[in-house]
Amino acid sequence: MHLHKYEKVWLTFGMASLVIFLLIIGFAAFWKGTHPQSHLETIDQNNVEAHDSFKPENLGLTEVADGKYKVNIVASAFNYDFGVDKDEKAVKTIRVPQGSTVLFTITSKDVVHGFQVAGTNVNMMVEPGHISRYEAVMKNKGEFTIVCNEYCGIGHHQMFGKVEVY
Ligand code: CUA
Repeated sequence: MHLHKYEKVWLTFGMASLVIFLLIIGFAAFWKGTHPQSHLETIDQNNVEAHDSFKPENLGLTEVADGKYKVNIVASAFNYDFGVDKDEKAVKTIRVPQGSTVLFTITSKDVVHGFQVAGTNVNMMVEPGHISRYEAVMKNKGEFTIVCNEYCGIGHHQMFGKVEVY
């Protein structure tokens, strides 16, 4: 079979790109340990309160060390539960100083939700039965909207919150 010269060039280019992409994926997955966040730890979605991170008193923002914070969240249709403040009002804004390291830990009680802090690297799929975690350094000052980016039902657009970096 005769192959035109340019055809050979493109075939070689195509196959080489495929090999390069597979090598990059293999390197990231098996050498660097990059995996979807949600498959590291499982949880009973009908009893998330039994897990230490999702006990009502442990929800929301906690300072764990100087400049290090954790935020525990329970997602459900159609709300993010960040716990309550001292007046028993539902917390909707997470406030952290600029440059702090924040570990977000989140699970879902019902269906698949998303958890994206727009304008940062925080972007997770939140699956029932799994715990998703992501640690991020809040480099920039400002207000960042938390949105659900997985369509989860009629109130999907009502799932939001805010991260304020001061
Ligand atoms: Cu939760 Cu969309």
